[in-house]
Amino acid sequence: MTISGSARLAGVMGWPIAHSRSPRIHGYWLQDYGIDGAYVPLAIEPGNLAECFAMLPKVGFRGWNITLPHKEAALKLVHAITPAAERIGAVNTVTVQPDGTLSGDNSDAFGFTAHLDQTAPGWPSDRPAVVLGAGGAARAICFALLDAGVPEVRIANRTLPRAQALAEANGPATRAIPWEARSEALQDAGLLVNTTSLGMNGQPPLSIDLSGLPADAVVNDIVYVPLETPLLAAAAARGLRTVDGLGMLLHQARPGFSRWFGHEPDVTDALYAAIVKDLVP
Ligand code: ATR
Repeated sequence: MTISGSARLAGVMGWPIAHSRSPRIHGYWLQDYGIDGAYVPLAIEPGNLAECFAMLPKVGFRGWNITLPHKEAALKLVHAITPAAERIGAVNTVTVQPDGTLSGDNSDAFGFTAHLDQTAPGWPSDRPAVVLGAGGAARAICFALLDAGVPEVRIANRTLPRAQALAEANGPATRAIPWEARSEALQDAGLLVNTTSLGMNGQPPLSIDLSGLPADAVVNDIVYVPLETPLLAAAAARGLRTVDGLGMLLHQARPGFSRWFGHEPDVTDALYAAIVKDLVP
């Protein structure tokens, strides 16, 4: 559809930005709902970030997403942050308020939980969860799991001190596990989440023995290239429910879209298919 001179404006800031899927996702919704708006990729070098935060509201932007490497720096460039952004230590969604101030949110935890609830309804949230990795994605997912009431989160990471730091930041319900103990940690768990890059195209495979997982456990991989990672294939072969990584990306886009464009978007099979088509190299 064509856009008018009063179109609502939003975008995504990153450096580099060409790989971002967000313009495709928001563009799909704008088209689908017939909204007079535009969502554009914004290639912002780190040295220009503060200037862009100050400038974009003045030229009519209603807000923007933030991706690598700006998510932490953005914390200091907004006037208010949500509890999720504060706990995760990163901002991925900025909204210009009616008074011109900027509010910073993090929708990764929301996206993770929304996709998990939609794909594996009734997932065992009353049992321990095992999280592999301790980077930015793991921070968001630990927050989401504790928020969902999971009684214990076991964090296994190759570099143990990073897992320990994440566990300390999240309180007594989280526990750091040596990377070598990841398979044993699956006993009695209700959920396994891979947040490492292992299993991604071009990366080494993730080696883990799933035999300790109870039969009703759910396995979630946030890697989405390929969409069915070897981990998810192994889990499916064991008859376990699986959750792919693409849905988290799609659902995390929802809060920004509804704030900037005034419409609650849905993650439909058609959107999924459109984005999957783009993933094929
Ligand atoms: P993100 O912010 O996307 O989570 P990150 O901070 O780079 O990305 O974290 C990547 C995660 O993958 C880390 O937990 C990393 O482990 P380290 O903390 O030890 O670096 C994990 N990872 C990457 N390559 C790995 C490998 N070959 N074996 C085990 N873990 C690996």
